Amino acid sequence: MPGRNLISIADLSNNEIEQIFELADSAPKLRSDKAADGRIMATLFYEPSTRTRLSFESAMQRLGGSVISCSDMKASSTAKGETVADTAKVVSSYADVLVVRHYWDGAVQAMAEYADVPVINAGDGGHEHPSQTLCDLYTLKKEKGGLKGLTVVICGDLKNGRTIHSLVWALARFEANIVTLAANGMELPQYVLERLERDYGYSLAPVASGDLSAVVTETDALYLTPKQPHQLALFTEVDSVVQSRLNSMVSGLRYDAFYMTRKQKERMKEGTTGSSYPTIGAGFLREQRFKDTVVMHPLPRVDELSPEVDKDRRGIYFKQAAYGVPIRMALLKFLFDQGERKPLSGKQRPTRYESPERLAPQCPNANCITLKEPSSTRRRFDLLFTGAGGALILRCIYCDHRFKVQLVGHAKSKRYCAYDIALADTVKGWLRKKELAIFNSIKEAEELGYEPYKSGPQRTVMDEAEIHSAVEAMTRQILGDCSDLERLLILGIRTKGSLLAQRIGAEMERQQERKPEVGEIEIYSSGDELRRVSPADPEAGPMNLKDRTIILVDDVIYTGRTVKSALTIIFQSGRPQSVRLAVLIDRGHREVPVKPNYVGKNIPSSERERVRVKLREAEHDERDKVVIYSIISPAEA
Ligand code: CP
Repeated sequence: MPGRNLISIADLSNNEIEQIFELADSAPKLRSDKAADGRIMATLFYEPSTRTRLSFESAMQRLGGSVISCSDMKASSTAKGETVADTAKVVSSYADVLVVRHYWDGAVQAMAEYADVPVINAGDGGHEHPSQTLCDLYTLKKEKGGLKGLTVVICGDLKNGRTIHSLVWALARFEANIVTLAANGMELPQYVLERLERDYGYSLAPVASGDLSAVVTETDALYLTPKQPHQLALFTEVDSVVQSRLNSMVSGLRYDAFYMTRKQKERMKEGTTGSSYPTIGAGFLREQRFKDTVVMHPLPRVDELSPEVDKDRRGIYFKQAAYGVPIRMALLKFLFDQGERKPLSGKQRPTRYESPERLAPQCPNANCITLKEPSSTRRRFDLLFTGAGGALILRCIYCDHRFKVQLVGHAKSKRYCAYDIALADTVKGWLRKKELAIFNSIKEAEELGYEPYKSGPQRTVMDEAEIHSAVEAMTRQILGDCSDLERLLILGIRTKGSLLAQRIGAEMERQQERKPEVGEIEIYSSGDELRRVSPADPEAGPMNLKDRTIILVDDVIYTGRTVKSALTIIFQSGRPQSVRLAVLIDRGHREVPVKPNYVGKNIPSSERERVRVKLREAEHDERDKVVIYSIISPAEA
């Protein structure tokens, strides 16, 4: 039994974090007691580090323990192709604890599964860095007396900064307010926001906050709000408590801490690192309203935080780094004392899912260990039913990225069908019996010998000519509202929405003799959610959303959740001037307050019905059509 690991900040309860803080307060005693006498720590750093590695090593030595290490993992057997699984297995027989930093998301979780001793995540790709969060929280508590009710502004690269992801989850748990001030296109990833919302009831809403701009020199990069109020309504459901908290943050002007981060260039694709980035400089020191706002940074800094702040009492980042030693002494002592005890007893784990089939669903994160080194992992997920009317979501247990289940199958009868809310109970039954198969595509289901379930008879509700006229009419209306084609971006939700967006683009070209830019958006992917479709110029770089008029296109709108997710991605990726919504079919019924601006046809329909748009580009059918049919539950089929 390997004992307790620290892979995610979620592995510690709030109470345990407080216990670690108390231990850190007594670091001199831990030192004199030689709390780790006779124990060995192995540090395996596949990525560079100064603070985390040296403070862990210092902490272990101050506890009377000793340290073994590979000075450069490139000079270890990793260079000969050794897997992380084998490295973990072997090194854990030489040491009593492993401290690991790796460039792949989820790699430390994978190593913990093979190690026979506790494993500490010292940073895994762009995912988490929980021991840094312990330093951050401890520093904040020391400076501000507590964590509850603090307002912390996190600034910079929130997308790739692993310290940020662990930190915002922890701040939410300690009931602090979080203001995001991200560099353009580097906003918090969707999986971080979703956990904030699902697990901690936080809804990060855009707020007007011009008062922050004075302290950040690249004001252009500020992102807190789309200014148009209708977009706010579209964007998120903000309950009254959250809204009043946000309002008071804006008007009350009490910001307890600015947490600045470096642009994580090592996690960006070549050619995408050049955009502007916020910086904190001398202006911050002069602002009377920030007189008690401390400035934090996990370090290393590059040029986003001016050395002018170093001498100011509010610049506490070197103190924050220094706390690394007592906090890590405390953490080691805490984990050693846990011995063979199991992980958090009170921790509610969602349902685990592993496919009974040889082809399992694939994590959408290209940097996930499950894709980088499949032999060291098993594709396992948490299965999340998002409630009434909701989708079925898989969350990768290694890297937290998630995606929506489209196709489910029954492993015993070898039948598959598209997942629908009406199937929720049936699917739960299959899950209990370990008979639930989930597929990435129909092709995959068919390769495994699955055949489709039956459905009720189909009725055509729109034929080819009607679809053509609807696209023509919507295009005319869009052009009537948005004459500036330079500014216009037609953005379709993959797959059918993207095909319709391309048709609208072609129709615009026919009506105006000018081609608008067309792109597509992938809702449950991560990383490359946005892609230019036309003009298809590989040199053109990422799509720019700033100040654009976006026409978001989808085939069918029902609950509005897909559109909500698309809007979240859009506002995380830039600051458009406005977003309008065009859909071919509006089924009525909405869970999210979204109203399309352009509708091809209204087809009110119930939950037990499916409306499918068939487009000749995507289907074997030669003609376009929209069909409606009832779902016969697999249980009844
Ligand atoms: N804060 C932090 O993780 O620093 P290092 O990369 O130097 O370890």
